[in-house]
Amino acid sequence: MSCSFCGHGNPAGARFCNDCGARLAAPTTTPEPRSYTPRHLVEKILASKSALEGERKPVTVLFADVARSMELAERVDLEEWHRLLDRLFRILAASVHRYEGTINQYTGDGIMALFGAPIAHEDHAQRACAAALEMARELRVLAEDVRRERGLDFAVRMGLNSGEVVVGRIGDDLRMDYTAQGHVVGLAARVQQLAPPGGISVTEQTARLASGFFDLLDRGEQSLKGASLPVRVFDLRGPGPIRSRLERSRARGFSRFVGRERELALLERALREAQSGRPKVVLITAEPGAGKSRLCHEFVERSRGVTVHYARALSHGRMLPFHAIAELARGLFGVDEDASATDVRGAVRRGLASAQPVDPIALAFWLELLGAPDPALAPSELEPEARRTRLFQSLRDLIQTRARREPTLLWIEDLHWLDPASEAALEMLTGRLLAPELADGRVLLLATARPEYRPAWSERVARLSLAPLASQDSSTLLDGCLGFDPALAPLRARIEARARGNPLFVEEIVRSLVECGALRGERGAYAPAAPVAEIALPETIQAVLASRIDRLSPQDKDVLQAAAVVGRDVPTELLRVVVDLPRSELAASLDRLATAELLGPAESPGERAFRHPLTHEVAYRTQLLDRRRRTHAGVARALLAIHGSATPTHAALLAHHFEEAGEHLEAARWHEHAGRRVARSDPADGVRHCRRVTTLLAALPKSRETLMLELTSRIALLEIGRIAGIEERESQDLFEEARAVVERLGDRGGHAFLLTSYGRLCGLSGDVAQYLACAERAAELAEGSDDAALAFEMHAVLAHAQLGVGRLNPARTTAARALAELARDAELREALGHSTAPAFCRIWWALANAYLGNAAEAQAGLEALLADDKEGGLDVLCGTHGFLCEVLRLRGDLPGALAHGRRALELANERGSPFSRVRSEPLVTAPEPALSSPKRASPSSGDGAGDSAPATSSWRESASLPRSLPRTAPRSRARSSPWTPSPPSWTPIPTGGWRNSSALG
Ligand SMILES: Nc1ncnc2c1ncn2[C@@H]1O[C@H](COP(=O)(O)OP(=O)(O)O)[C@@H](O)[C@H]1O
Ligand SMILES: [Mg+2]
Repeated sequence: MSCSFCGHGNPAGARFCNDCGARLAAPTTTPEPRSYTPRHLVEKILASKSALEGERKPVTVLFADVARSMELAERVDLEEWHRLLDRLFRILAASVHRYEGTINQYTGDGIMALFGAPIAHEDHAQRACAAALEMARELRVLAEDVRRERGLDFAVRMGLNSGEVVVGRIGDDLRMDYTAQGHVVGLAARVQQLAPPGGISVTEQTARLASGFFDLLDRGEQSLKGASLPVRVFDLRGPGPIRSRLERSRARGFSRFVGRERELALLERALREAQSGRPKVVLITAEPGAGKSRLCHEFVERSRGVTVHYARALSHGRMLPFHAIAELARGLFGVDEDASATDVRGAVRRGLASAQPVDPIALAFWLELLGAPDPALAPSELEPEARRTRLFQSLRDLIQTRARREPTLLWIEDLHWLDPASEAALEMLTGRLLAPELADGRVLLLATARPEYRPAWSERVARLSLAPLASQDSSTLLDGCLGFDPALAPLRARIEARARGNPLFVEEIVRSLVECGALRGERGAYAPAAPVAEIALPETIQAVLASRIDRLSPQDKDVLQAAAVVGRDVPTELLRVVVDLPRSELAASLDRLATAELLGPAESPGERAFRHPLTHEVAYRTQLLDRRRRTHAGVARALLAIHGSATPTHAALLAHHFEEAGEHLEAARWHEHAGRRVARSDPADGVRHCRRVTTLLAALPKSRETLMLELTSRIALLEIGRIAGIEERESQDLFEEARAVVERLGDRGGHAFLLTSYGRLCGLSGDVAQYLACAERAAELAEGSDDAALAFEMHAVLAHAQLGVGRLNPARTTAARALAELARDAELREALGHSTAPAFCRIWWALANAYLGNAAEAQAGLEALLADDKEGGLDVLCGTHGFLCEVLRLRGDLPGALAHGRRALELANERGSPFSRVRSEPLVTAPEPALSSPKRASPSSGDGAGDSAPATSSWRESASLPRSLPRTAPRSRARSSPWTPSPPSWTPIPTGGWRNSSALG
């Protein structure tokens, strides 16, 4: 029997075509297309039929078919089955026809439809996708009915493919003969079979045409029967964010676009270059209201078939680390603002997997930034710089993978508000995109900013500075807004002169004149309502906006001003809590504000957005300070009630609102919190937050809490200094200030932590004697407290410090005692939780032993530590291997030493710690035992009999080397020991005292 789709001859009894895979079963209904095609379409087809015959037409083929239909048909009686199919066909046909496709064939329980022929549509793929999504939506309702009434699972699978057909004859009954090129039809049928029940699968060809307009999930390459090469398959999941954004903007009523031909041509040229594989970066700069965003909109609309990812910096975003990059990533991973944590995790994993291999560090970091941290992923021990690099690398890989697959447009708005971390990401990205050796991605990065924004990288990219609209274009714009009433001519001239080619200014002046009653009529057809000479015009756009806001009713104005305090995007629920209005009244106000085009619908349904950033700024700035403060406080409290402090961004946001509210204590609390939370990802930002704490507290009366914050923020600064580098002077000052505070507080735990934080900084820069003094005092303080965990940690530090000055016996004793206590006390083990202190204590014990001549015992101890998978942190592992190398060298086992040295170096690299690497490198490059026998070693500066440390021992090096080592910042204190991974960091937790943790936040 021959296939009705591809004409292939198949053996009798075959149910599917052996060539294209289409169903062969004789259709149950074979009505003429004319009988089921709506009249207006019939006419359209017949009118254009002669022009079509013999033409080669690009089309999209859609197959829809009931999943497991045999099984279903058996379980209901015939009549009912027909009723069901009837409903099915009606749904399918309605959607196909709505998008001007035609149904070519009814199969037994599905259809084959064509978009693009016989009615030609250049956007056939988009139409087909839109139709398929609509069908899927309606079919879900049908399926729900079937499940409720019959308890059956009813689902339809859909498949789409695009390619060319040559249209043959079209009969009056609308039957069309056509020859498909290649396997256009067959592949659509095949890919349909791959779709999950209820789902829509599309081939790469269709995905390419529809991308940017739809949300497509890449399912990778699949081998399909009938296709010689594997075919890349995508799931069509919904409309794409950009498309909905554009549509919503349109719905808000743009003025007709005028001018900017030169700029559009320039952008189109850049896109063509990008499409040919040479990445481009274009920075558009202009005054607010000049039309930067609109130009991008228009350009995106013209760039069909290009996937667009969008992000935008927020006006209060300087303090929200990574905020713009996180938004860009959301787009790349395909997750909405309101996606559940599980969805976010799934999407990020899939997204990263597309750019193999998945980097767990980047994965954890993205999840944290997108507000869905995965508790199963261990906190990273990487240096912040290294973590950030990994994040940026993964962003770059992600973009490059996309760009290799499809032309990609990254659109980033309002760079002048970028936070420093996002700025760094962008700098990396532009550098990477513009590096000639890497020019293989089809990427265009389009950014907008106000003229004052001039990052260093902007020198290297194409800059497009938007001039004011040409006078003829301004005039056309005014035609569209005002209309042509001759009585308006003098007014028009004045508006044009005043607006100076700024389209926002033009639009706002007209709106303002309408609102104050100077004009009457409708948009595009106004007439003067007063003598035009008497109509006053505002001097600036800000002034127009301010007067428009002033004219609002008191309630609408309240709502708008409260919204301005929330931000450019305003979650309605948050706003409701802040303004405290009944839902219906708020809704009415919001409607009026939308009509006034001040605050309109936003991306997500639960949000509103200011129509223009300038509207937002004016609505914010023109409020009385007092009122603004109260609202900030309200917003902060509402945010707390809604989100808690789930992400670092929230802590920073809360700090911002409390600070603007003038609630300095609350602000200090949240700055301290934010500082510690971001320190690991962005130390510079951490420092900014912690410094803010000190400034804010300076003006407050002292209390136990303020003192505590004074202390914890300074300890955090010292700890960040240990990661990122700190001036020696500054660390000393911080220490002195904090010591004064802690003495007033009389808090032993806090004092002990302060001493160890500062002491370790001293040790790192070579002052081991100071380190020891601090550690001894800290241990004393801890012994006097009843906190066994604190005592253990301080003894671990003490053992380290004792080693540092070469007091080997005391070091061994300190470590041994602490470990014995740990072995005895189960509660203590529990209290220490994930602390790395026990592991380091074991290392110090082993090391002291080794230098005291018990290398065998030391080796056994370190090997036991390696075998203990509870103690598997990167920090610990790297140290253990490094020391095993040292110990094996002492024992003369050079190959063994080399192996461990290599492993230590690998781990140091993985951790991204240049200092661990500097320390580990010689382990590998110079396996010769520099110290063949401990006995040859010179006596240490230690405390007497029996103690000796090898002359070239790492311990001695640690006291002298750092000054000659590379430093993280000029004139700053070297931040890590040259020979050893640093011991764990201790994190003070402001609520409930102090706790040990392996990370800052
Ligand atoms: N070329 C243009 N033609 C018509 N309207 C424009 C044009 N450029 C901008 N506009 C309108 O002017 C207003 C401000 O433009 P926008 O792109 O938001 O400015 P910017 O991003 O530079 O601050 C918008 O309402 C926009 O639709
Ligand atoms: Mg803009």
